Amino acid sequence: MSKADVPSALLIMGVSGSGKSTVGAAVAQRLGWHFQDADSLHPPANVVKMARGEELDDADRTPWLAAVAQMLQRWQVQKLKGVIACSALKHRYRQQLIGAQNDLRLVYLHGDRALLAQRLQQRSGHFMSPSLLDSQLATLETPTPDEAAIVIDIGHSVEQQVRDILLGLQAQPERPAGN
Ligand SMILES: Nc1ncnc2c1ncn2[C@@H]1O[C@H](COP(=O)(O)OP(=O)(O)OP(=O)(O)O)[C@@H](O)[C@H]1O
Ligand SMILES: [Mg+2]
Repeated sequence: MSKADVPSALLIMGVSGSGKSTVGAAVAQRLGWHFQDADSLHPPANVVKMARGEELDDADRTPWLAAVAQMLQRWQVQKLKGVIACSALKHRYRQQLIGAQNDLRLVYLHGDRALLAQRLQQRSGHFMSPSLLDSQLATLETPTPDEAAIVIDIGHSVEQQVRDILLGLQAQPERPAGN
């Protein structure tokens, strides 16, 4: 992707409660792009496990990440623009998802533990248990400079976060030379 180009896809990453579904849907609506929540691509066995408060292991995540990557590839082939909300906590997962696709911009929703815990506690009707927050934070590998993520402060309103993402898209991604 040349620096002046707007990407065709956004991957909204962050731990549980950071607002991926909320902000991802809002930015997709603003852009008029498709929205996909990666949570809905989990195999049923993973949903059951998470509902029990158990952590997923890499074997559980393999079919899920494959489904998310397939979704991104489908958009690319069909020349559709889309936003995907996906925790993508490890660098390795992001590499697997993004692969050779350089027409995608990473958005990292960042906030402190207290705010994340508060949002998880206030949320109802969702399969993510608040007790998993600490393991999510332990697993999180924040994006490295070569990933050129747009970093968003989750303390802001959803509307402000959407504006911050759009501003980040206009700014030139600062990737190290060679990428
Ligand atoms: N900017 C915000 N201000 C206030 N509340 C917010 C904001 N963004 C999200 N929320 C609320 O915080 C909670 C968590 O948001 P959301 O469900 O979008 O997080 P998530 O990252 O998708 O979590 P998960 O990984 O568990 O799916 C929701 O109840 C949502 O309404
Ligand atoms: Mg979500």
